[in-house]
Amino acid sequence: MFLTHFGYTVQGCQPTTLPLAFCKDFIPLMNRTIAVASQKGGVGKTTTVANLAAWSALLGKRTLAIDLDPQGSLTLCLGQDTEGNTLGLEQVMLERLPIDKAVQPTFIQGLDLLPGNITTAAAERKVIASIREPRQLRHALDLMEKPYDFVFIDTPPGLVGLSNLALAAADSLIVPLQCEFLSLATLARLLDTIGEIRKSDNPWLQLEGILVTMYDETASYSQPIVRQAWEQFRHELFETIIPRLPRLSEATVLGRPIVLYDIRSKGSEAYLNLAKELLQRYV
Ligand SMILES: Nc1ncnc2c1ncn2[C@@H]1O[C@H](COP(=O)(O)OP(=O)(O)OP(=O)(O)O)[C@@H](O)[C@H]1O
Ligand SMILES: [Mg+2]
Repeated sequence: MFLTHFGYTVQGCQPTTLPLAFCKDFIPLMNRTIAVASQKGGVGKTTTVANLAAWSALLGKRTLAIDLDPQGSLTLCLGQDTEGNTLGLEQVMLERLPIDKAVQPTFIQGLDLLPGNITTAAAERKVIASIREPRQLRHALDLMEKPYDFVFIDTPPGLVGLSNLALAAADSLIVPLQCEFLSLATLARLLDTIGEIRKSDNPWLQLEGILVTMYDETASYSQPIVRQAWEQFRHELFETIIPRLPRLSEATVLGRPIVLYDIRSKGSEAYLNLAKELLQRYV
């Protein structure tokens, strides 16, 4: 315990200047599990997880993306096939398969994926019925051997069922706020739900932030919505705003994060900014 680099020494030990490479096994691993969830569908949850996870890995963080949505959109978005996967979330939940054994590499170095293979309603019902305790996914994550700096979980719309599993497992939550009317009303309800989850399943759950998505600068309603969001939730809003850009949905259709489709595009830049804003909280 003589890691003077990190500002602490044990009494009686002489401070030393060991190189960081030597010390790395002693550094406590920072690990943050962040769920992206919302009551509303189509607000940019999957797009956010795919692109944030991609940039997190490209910025040098060991990153795992988990697809908890039976639609399997994140799996497709990261270039994997939901049908062909033999191992994934279903086996982790039903057969207690260690997550390490179901995780697959992606075409981005440093980014792994736990594929979503609960693709039928019957499989989803079976998994939900098998949940013995809400923090089951958290326990599976705690048993992972491979260390990750960040774990991002994509969830289906709504906050029950599989989404609840994510909220019980997460350290914090990102809530996408699609820039349109009615979104703010559902947001208030979601914040109440976080309070309920803290009381029951996960007292540690924090709100990582509210992320304005699909901001259309040409629409007259965009600015008033952002202003209203800022007035109500200024301490929770991410500074980064994700614009509505066709390039982002084109990349999704091609099964790629935007960074692999058009790295210089505004969409790629927006998610890079979001990744930097998030990562700098945990250096
Ligand atoms: N910033 C954006 N600009 C343009 N299109 C976007 C943007 N973000 C997401 N989209 C598109 O909007 C659609 C919904 O996005 P996405 O799948 O990320 O939402 P979701 O919240 O995960 O949806 P669901 O609730 O169905 O899981 C997709 O077609 C996606 O490509
Ligand atoms: Mg989705």
